[in-house]
Formats: sequence, C-alpha cells, structure tokens
Amino acid sequence: MNVIRIAIAGFGGVGRATANLLLSRREAYRQVYRADVRLVAICGSRSGMMDVGGIEADRFDSLEPGLSGPDFIEASDADILVEAGPSDFRTGGPGLAYIRSALSAGRDTIVISKGALVHSGRELQALAQASGAMLKISGAAAAALPTVDLLEHSLKGSEVLEIEGILNATTNFLLDAMTAQGLGFDEALRQAQTGGFAEADPRNDTEGWDTASKLLIIANFGLGAELTMDDLAVEGIQSVTRERIEAWHVQGLVPKLVGHLTNSNGEIRASVGIRTYPLADPLANVRGKDKAIRITTDAMGETVAIGAGREPLATAAAALKDFEHILMARCGRPTPPEKAS
Ligand SMILES: NC(=O)c1ccc[n+]([C@@H]2O[C@H](COP(=O)([O-])OP(=O)(O)OC[C@H]3O[C@@H](n4cnc5c(N)ncnc54)[C@H](OP(=O)(O)O)[C@@H]3O)[C@@H](O)[C@H]2O)c1
Repeated sequence: MNVIRIAIAGFGGVGRATANLLLSRREAYRQVYRADVRLVAICGSRSGMMDVGGIEADRFDSLEPGLSGPDFIEASDADILVEAGPSDFRTGGPGLAYIRSALSAGRDTIVISKGALVHSGRELQALAQASGAMLKISGAAAAALPTVDLLEHSLKGSEVLEIEGILNATTNFLLDAMTAQGLGFDEALRQAQTGGFAEADPRNDTEGWDTASKLLIIANFGLGAELTMDDLAVEGIQSVTRERIEAWHVQGLVPKLVGHLTNSNGEIRASVGIRTYPLADPLANVRGKDKAIRITTDAMGETVAIGAGREPLATAAAALKDFEHILMARCGRPTPPEKAS
C-alpha cells in the first residue's frame, strides 16, 4: 500500500471542501489505487496544522497560529500540494510562492487559484518539467466544466481552430437575468448580490477579468500558447444596457460574455467580450450559473460541453479529478471496485 501525503494551502471554502471530499473518498482510493491517502498539513494565511499520521475533519477548526507559508508546507514532507488560496493575476497572489516551492522540490501540485498560473504560468511549467513534478490545473480552468482535459485528451490529434467559452458563472447569471426578466445591469447585480451569486466587489467578474484569466490558462496550458494578459482585449458586461438587450431580443439573439480564441497556423489570438447567439445555438441556452465551452477542430468538428455544479463542492471535485490522475500515474492502472481486494 502506497502512502500518499497531501497538504492543502488555502483553507477557505474550496480548500475545506477539498479536504472533506478527500477524506470521504479514502476507502475508495485504498481499494481502487491501493493508496493510503493522508491529509498531513493544512493552512490558511496565519494558522495551520501538521500531523504525519493524518488530520481528521474534527480538527479543522483547531488550526494553530503561526503555522503557514511555503516553508511550513515544505516541512510537512507532503507528496502532493493542493493550492487553494486567493487569486491575484496581477501579482500571482500568495499561491505563487507555494507552487514555486512545491514544484522546485518535485512535489506534484494541484492548483485551484488562477493568479499564479496567469502571472507565471510558463515559469511554473518549466519548474515542473525540470523537477518531474506533475502540475494539474483543472480547478483554475473553469473547475467542473472540462476544458484543458478536452484539449489534452479528448481532442488530441486534431488541430484546435477556435474556442468559445462562457467561463464565468456570475456574468452568465446576470446576463440571463437581464434577458429573461428585462432588468438593467444595476438591478440584476443587486439581485445577484442579495442572493449571494455575486461578490460585494464584482468587478473581477463583470469587467471580464475572471473570464480572461481562465481563457489564458486554457490557451497556455491546453494549447501551448504563450499569452499574457496584455495580449487580450478584455470587455465586460457593465456597459450592457436594457435597451441593447431589448434590441438583441427583437433580432432573436442572446448575449453572452465569451472568452474567444482563434488559432490560425499556430498564431493564437484571444479576447473577451459580448457575443450574441441565435436561439437555436447551444451557447444561447446556457442558463443561470452554468458555464460552457465550444471547441472547433479541423478533424473532429465541434465539441460543446455545458456544465455546472454546486460550489464549492464542484471545484473540490475538479481538484480531486486531478488527484486521481496523479494517483493513476503514481500507482498504476485503477482496479475496478468489484475486483478490488
Ligand atoms: N469558490 C469557488 O467555487 C471557486 C471556483 C474555482 C476556483 N476558485 C478559486 O479557489 C480559490 C479559493 O477560493 P475560496 O472560495 O475558497 O476562497 P476563500 O474562502 O476566500 O479562501 C481563501 C483561503 O486562502 C487563505 N490564504 C490567504 N492568504 C494565504 C497565504 N498567504 N497562505 C495560505 N493561505 C492563505 C485564506 O486564509 P485566511 O482564512 O487565514 O484568510 C483562506 O483560507 C480562489 O483562488 C478562487 O478563485 C474558487
């Protein structure tokens, strides 16, 4: 039985959901991968906990002050880091130091925050390549919606010509409310904030930066592009008026905030802005907090995925999908549950 030790840096909604889901799946990991999975370290910005024997959920509220930071994770000797701290694409955020340290040490790393991947993605890929560590990013690339997996696995062997992604749940929710209920932007935003569907400061979503971050990660990690934020023209939804929505409605068009990418013989261009779709288009029918991606390839035609999931559970599950891919690589092919001993 392989012992697999996990550390989680960033222990808010997503970090904690990931820890709970991981612990609930330990028996399955034992049966399917013959892996004894232990959560050996967790930390927030100022406190944490380390136990090489494994931390159980009843201790999650007893973090000790002072136990935090990349050196703390290093000292836990974990095999795998899950990074779930705040996203900041302008600086890389606190996650950058954790991810650098883990990859440099050869520790497989599952990244959920977007900031470090946007800010320093190339450097992190190079660190992973140099140390042989696996770098997995599903949680940061629209989480429950499969994106990079489609490019790395399902559509491999064909050339991607175009990607359209409804990658931000909040803006889709707002545009959907404006379209279905005839609300103005401010009114829809107030409703969304009251219902807990939008942040108190929603600009990262409404100005298109979250969509841009995800599109850039999908392009750089899924297609090997080398885009920076400066390469993307980014437009949000804050200037969409009730009158524009009404005019689109009259024409039978539905507006969506879309991350759009074209690939012309390796020249990749990306942007974020409003695109409108006729009612018969699958992207016009992505409702509420759902997300979607359409990938057009030369040989496999069009693939559309539409997905949602209850947050933060869905993001935790996406991170643990990455974890299972690491387990498969480390522990070999999974044993079907009915044949497990
Ligand atoms: N919410 C979602 O459904 C979702 C979906 C996809 C991706 N994400 C990404 O997942 C990440 C986490 O989201 P969340 O909703 O869990 O956020 P959150 O509840 O605000 O949690 C953030 C956590 O990061 C910790 N943190 C801050 N600075 C740190 C540092 N220097 N070292 C260690 N930990 C530090 C915070 O610690 P303190 O509590 O001590 O401040 C907190 O525990 C974000 O990057 C977000 O963009 C979230």
